[in-house]
Amino acid sequence: MELFETIRQRKTIKLFNQQVKISREEMAEMLALAQLAPSKANLQPWRFVVVDDTQQKQALSQLVAFNGPPCESAAAAVLILADRQYDQLLENIVQRSVETGCLHENFKARSLNFLRSLHQGLTEQDLRDQVLIDTSLSAMQLMLVAKAKGYDSHAIGVFDRDAVLELLEVDASRYLPVMLLAIGKAAVPALPSARLNLEQTVAWNSGKDLPR
Ligand SMILES: Cc1cc2nc3c(=O)[nH]c(=O)nc-3n(C[C@H](O)[C@H](O)[C@H](O)COP(=O)(O)O)c2cc1C
Repeated sequence: MELFETIRQRKTIKLFNQQVKISREEMAEMLALAQLAPSKANLQPWRFVVVDDTQQKQALSQLVAFNGPPCESAAAAVLILADRQYDQLLENIVQRSVETGCLHENFKARSLNFLRSLHQGLTEQDLRDQVLIDTSLSAMQLMLVAKAKGYDSHAIGVFDRDAVLELLEVDASRYLPVMLLAIGKAAVPALPSARLNLEQTVAWNSGKDLPR
């Protein structure tokens, strides 16, 4: 599907066709595309827990307030997490760049030192903002990839974060839950949603024309 059309057609879907499953191969393909998203210094702090087991989805659906129907009926609900300790993977990130020819072996140590120094200069708030921004970019990309593959989605931000992390055995001291993303095939049409006019969201050359 052409990109503009994919963007226009992605809409939040409140109920999915429960007969439709997504194979692990196809889900992995979508996640691989989603994680082609850009991130600060290519640090890739996004992590995904894919819930495609029926019982696990049911249990999850109890923890998502009024969002139970899309969560339970989806082929999969993906818990999208931001890794506050992405620095644990710095060696892997740099090594992967070397292996794939993106970075010359000679620059490995320098690159690693640079990334470590970037990380060490961050406040807790900077770090949180950084991983949330990067992870949200991959989440958006996953929604569009799913749409382009013929699936629909529903981002869920209202859920019991502590309980979901506990259910899915995620280390809460390390991972920040960003959103759940229910993915499947729509069983109902999307509700219409409007956007603000550009006059209210865009200013040219100066912020003084932004809403005050
Ligand atoms: C991060 C995020 C969290 C959201 N959380 C919820 C939610 O908990 N429940 C819900 O009904 N919709 C949720 N939505 C969906 C929005 O309400 C929806 O995207 C918006 O109304 C625009 O509609 P559209 O996605 O169909 O264009 C969420 C969307 C985003 C991006």
